[in-house]
Formats: sequence, structure tokens, C-alpha cells
Amino acid sequence: MATALITGPTTGIGRAFADKLALEGYDLVLVSRDETRLKEVATELTRLHGVACEVLAADLTDADDLARVEARFQAGPIEVLVNNAGFGQKKPFWANPIDVEENQFDLLVRVVLRLTHAAVLPMIERGSGAVINVSSVAGFLQRGSYSAHKSWVTNFTAGLAIELHSRGVAVMALCPGFVRTEFHERMGMDKTIIPSFMWLDATELVDAAWKDLMQGKAISIPSLRYKLIVAATRYIPRALIARVSTVGLDGRRRV
Ligand SMILES: NC(=O)c1ccc[n+]([C@@H]2O[C@H](COP(=O)([O-])OP(=O)(O)OC[C@H]3O[C@@H](n4cnc5c(N)ncnc54)[C@H](OP(=O)(O)O)[C@@H]3O)[C@@H](O)[C@H]2O)c1
Repeated sequence: MATALITGPTTGIGRAFADKLALEGYDLVLVSRDETRLKEVATELTRLHGVACEVLAADLTDADDLARVEARFQAGPIEVLVNNAGFGQKKPFWANPIDVEENQFDLLVRVVLRLTHAAVLPMIERGSGAVINVSSVAGFLQRGSYSAHKSWVTNFTAGLAIELHSRGVAVMALCPGFVRTEFHERMGMDKTIIPSFMWLDATELVDAAWKDLMQGKAISIPSLRYKLIVAATRYIPRALIARVSTVGLDGRRRV
């Protein structure tokens, strides 16, 4: 059976990917920090879908832990990588300690860069495989360092998709809008200020992303409303986008 490696699979979008890939028949390598929770999720996925689950407890921002995860790509074939682990911050860049900013940069950018590299080399040799890098609609906006990191993820991934298409390796950036997960609680954001129609369901998001991957898309923006929002960002003046982008964040002007 083919194997998929997912970062951040214990909850939210990563958990939805774990269910989807198990339903598609993949054995799973599950990577995040909380080992107890990882083991619970692994047991449940095996019970629900009958797939084998390997647990790799790692803080991806720790150099030794990241090296262990990179080594897993050499230990046995990984056909699908989902770079999903991430977190947001309520305060703007200048109000956060620089170490926290650097930690977020490491997880959202450096880890994606290194794990993508570790994954695609064997995929290129085999002539098959897929990488999904979970980015964000925020990457099309001006919303602080998070948005800059996600902009990098989308751009990096879309470029790599073009390079690797002819080598049989599919690469896609998934750009969700607001998704109901633990993400906003973890960052301490008041979710009630986001209108209900803006929220996406993680399972539906991942189903749409998987269809887009199968269709060979380099960038997936699930749902019509977010496709329209992203299209609109090309025509709306930057200053207005910047104002709208501050909704829900501390220490900034509100619209
Ligand atoms: N929710 C949204 O509205 C939304 C929108 C656009 C994009 N995204 C992106 O989607 C991705 C997943 O977000 P989510 O909403 O599903 O968040 P979530 O529910 O908070 O889940 C985050 C996952 O990442 C893991 N994780 C966090 N830090 C880690 C670290 N240092 N090392 C290893 N694993 C780590 C967490 O597990 P542990 O705590 O056990 O490590 C957890 O499994 C992120 O990249 C996020 O930026 C989310």
C-alpha cells in the first residue's frame, strides 16, 4: 500500500487530510508535537479505515526533530506529502517577541522548504508522487508576516508545480479561507467577528482540494466565495485590501 506523510494531522485541516488519504487507501505517517494525541488519532484512523499509521512525534521547528522527519523520506517511499502544520498570531509583527515571529517563520516557510525538498527527490527518481502545501487566501492579502509566509508558500509551490509536472510529480498549494478548526482558538482570536458564510468545513475543503490535485491544478482555492475574493484582490486598490485584511487582529485599525 502507498504511504502519505501529513504534518499537523491531529486536528483541523490535517485531520481531514488524514481521513481523506486513509479513505483513498494510503497508509499514514502522522507528524506533530503531542504524542498522546497522535497515538489516539492513529488508533482511530486504523479502526475507521483499516490503514496502518506510524506516529512520528516531532516539533518541526526543532532542528533535530525536523532532521528525523526528513530522514523518514529515505527510510521508505512516501507517495504523498501534506505540509499542513501551522499557527497564526493575533498580534501584529511588531508587537510579537521576535523569537515567536522566527518560530512561525520556521514552521510556515523553512519546514515547508526542507520537507518538500526531502520528499520530491525520491518522487522524481520514481517518476510519481504528490506534494500538497497548505497555504492560505491570506497569502493574496497584506496581513502581516503570516500573510507574507503564505504568499511565499503559494508562489514557491506553484513554481515547483511547473518544474515537476513533466517528471510525474504533482505539486499543489491549497489556499483556504476561514476554516472551522482549532487554529483561531489557539491564536486567541474572537471568531464571532467573522460572518458565518465565510467559514468553510475542513472535510469539504479537503475533498475539493483532492479533486483539484487530481485535475492537475497548481493552486487550489476551494469554494466560489473565496475564488471570487482572490480574483477581486487583483482589481481592488492595495490600501483597501490592507484595511479589510486587518479584521480580527489586535493593535491595528478596524474597518
Ligand atoms: N483554519 C483556518 O482558517 C486556516 C485558513 C487558511 C490556512 N490555514 C492553514 O492550515 C494549516 C492547518 O491549520 P488548522 O486550521 O488545521 O490548525 P489547527 O487546527 O490549529 O491544527 C494545527 C496542527 O499543526 C500541528 N502543529 C502546530 N505546531 C507544530 C509544530 N511546531 N510542529 C509540529 N506540528 C505542529 C498541531 O499539532 P500539535 O499542537 O500537537 O503539534 C495541529 O495538529 C496551517 O498551515 C494554517 O496556516 C488555516
